[in-house]
Amino acid sequence: MARDRIIITRRIPQAGMDLLEEAARDAAGRGAEIHLQVIQTDEERGLSREQVLAAVRAADVLLCQLTEPVDREVLSANPKLLGVAQMAVGYDNVDLDAATELGIPVTNTPGVLTDTTADLTWALLMAVARRIPQSHEYMRAGRYKLWGPNLLLGADVSPGGSGRKKVLGIIGYGRIGRAVAKRSVGFDMEVLAYDPSHREGVEEDDLATWAELDELLARSDFVSLHPALTEETHHLIGEAELRTMKKTACLINVSRGPVVDEAALVRALREEWIGGAALDVYEDEPAMRAGLAELADREEGPTVVLVPHIGSASRDTRDKMATMAATSCLAHLRTERAPSCVNPEVYETEAYRRRAG
Ligand code: DGY
Repeated sequence: MARDRIIITRRIPQAGMDLLEEAARDAAGRGAEIHLQVIQTDEERGLSREQVLAAVRAADVLLCQLTEPVDREVLSANPKLLGVAQMAVGYDNVDLDAATELGIPVTNTPGVLTDTTADLTWALLMAVARRIPQSHEYMRAGRYKLWGPNLLLGADVSPGGSGRKKVLGIIGYGRIGRAVAKRSVGFDMEVLAYDPSHREGVEEDDLATWAELDELLARSDFVSLHPALTEETHHLIGEAELRTMKKTACLINVSRGPVVDEAALVRALREEWIGGAALDVYEDEPAMRAGLAELADREEGPTVVLVPHIGSASRDTRDKMATMAATSCLAHLRTERAPSCVNPEVYETEAYRRRAG
C-alpha cells in the first residue's frame, strides 16, 4: 500500500492536527495511507540539524516552523520531497532559490496573522510609551505608597498635553504595516511609511504618506518595523539610522531580529540616542544581546520592553495558521497548486514535474 508521509517538525495547534488526522482517516477509507509524524513535542527545545535532516529524508511533505533552517543541504536531502509548508508568514529560514531550483514548492501562512501581529505592535507601542512593564514591576514590588506628580512619566501617543500630533513611522508597508497604520486613526497620529521593496501603492495610500527612510527616522516619534528579512533589510536599522532618530523616539520591532543591528541598538539605549525600544524579535533568537535585559530593568533612561516573539500568538490565530499549513501539506501531497505558495514559478519547472511524477 502506498504510504504518504507528512513530517511535522514540532507540535502544532490541535486544529491543524485535526485536519491532517481527518485526511488520514479519509485516505484509510480509500485503502491508502497518510502517515503523520511529529518529531519534537517538547515546547522548549528545537530540533537539532540532524533531526531536521532526518525529518526531511523521511518526508513526502514537511510542515516546519521558523525555528528550523531549511537550507540547500536540507532541501537536497530528499529527491522525493513534494513540498514544504511553513507555519508562519515569514520564511527567511527557507532557502527559496534552492527550493525553486530543486523543484520544491514552499508555502507560508499569510493574511491570517495580520491583525494579531498589528495588535501586538500596538501593545508594545503603548507599553514602551507609557512604561507599562516598569509600572507593573513597581506595583509587584510593593513600592506604590503615594500617588506622585512625577511618578513613572511616559510619552503621549495621541496629541495629549503637547497638542502636537505624534508621528508614527512604519517601515515595511505590507499587510501588517498597513494594519498598524489603520489602528493609529483613533490616536490622531500622522503616519509616514517607507518600504524597502516597493513604493507603488504606498504613495496612494489613504492612511500614510510616503517618506524616504532618513526623513521617516528623523520625524517619527515611534518607528515600527515590518519588512520581510532579506539581504537588503538585514541591519536596515544600524548606528547611522538610530542616530538619525529623535532622542525621544521609540523603536518597535515585530518583524525579524536581524533587521536591527542589535549591538548598535544596545549602544543607542545605553547612550540615550533614542527614547526607548520594544522588541518581539532578536538578532540571534532566542538569545538576547548582552545588555538588553539590564536595560529593561533600569528605572532611568530609555524604556525597554522585551517579549518572546509572540506577534501572532493568539489562540485563534495560531489555530488558523496551523490549519492553513495543514491544508498546504495536503495540496503538496496531492501535487496540486497550493494557494499560498511563495515560489509559484516552481510549478512550471522540469525539476518539479520530475518530483510530482
Ligand atoms: C511569522 O509568521 O512570520 C511570525 O514571525 C510568527 O508567527
